[in-house]
Amino acid sequence: MEAIDIRRSVRKYNGMPVEDEKIEKLLRAAMQAPSAGNQRESEFIVVSSRKSLEQLSAMSPYSGLIARAPLAIVLLGNTERMQFPENWEQDLGAAAENILIEAVDLDLGAVWLGVHPLEERIAAVRKQFSLPDNLRPFAVIAVGYPAEKEANHFEDRWERKRVHYE
Ligand SMILES: Cc1cc2nc3c(=O)[nH]c(=O)nc-3n(C[C@H](O)[C@H](O)[C@H](O)COP(=O)(O)O)c2cc1C
Repeated sequence: MEAIDIRRSVRKYNGMPVEDEKIEKLLRAAMQAPSAGNQRESEFIVVSSRKSLEQLSAMSPYSGLIARAPLAIVLLGNTERMQFPENWEQDLGAAAENILIEAVDLDLGAVWLGVHPLEERIAAVRKQFSLPDNLRPFAVIAVGYPAEKEANHFEDRWERKRVHYE
């Protein structure tokens, strides 16, 4: 599938805002992801004010680019919906990947910024949004229109040696 093949982490954006329709498509893609027992515990904070983006950019040493993005989506796991809490990371990871692939399909660029399981980053996100205990920060995805043409592009990562046949 083309969107999977050409997806890259895009960290530079051209300043154009992301349209509300596209933001909804990104969130719809996330909610279409599989989850253990169909528990659908992922929740999302849409962040687009410059002030909040700047604050969020300080949540980790590797998230400064958020300050120059038009949009960030914070992914959270709601413990109250976790029938299978041992699977929440997989569930949120699937939702995150769906957002990244949908972004490519919408001519956007995006990058996954790790939060969970690093306590300092979790605490920073928790504090910024005054999250209740039942909402666990998982990751932040920065999104925008790529500053560079072909920011999303194919890189061949096929390695036969990683495949094992029974
Ligand atoms: C769990 C996870 C955490 C990541 N955290 C960061 C991050 O904090 N900052 C960043 O710039 N990129 C981050 N990335 C993006 C990776 O660096 C990127 O996916 C990897 O280098 C491969 O490049 P590609 O996405 O272009 O294929 C993260 C990716 C994953 C899956």
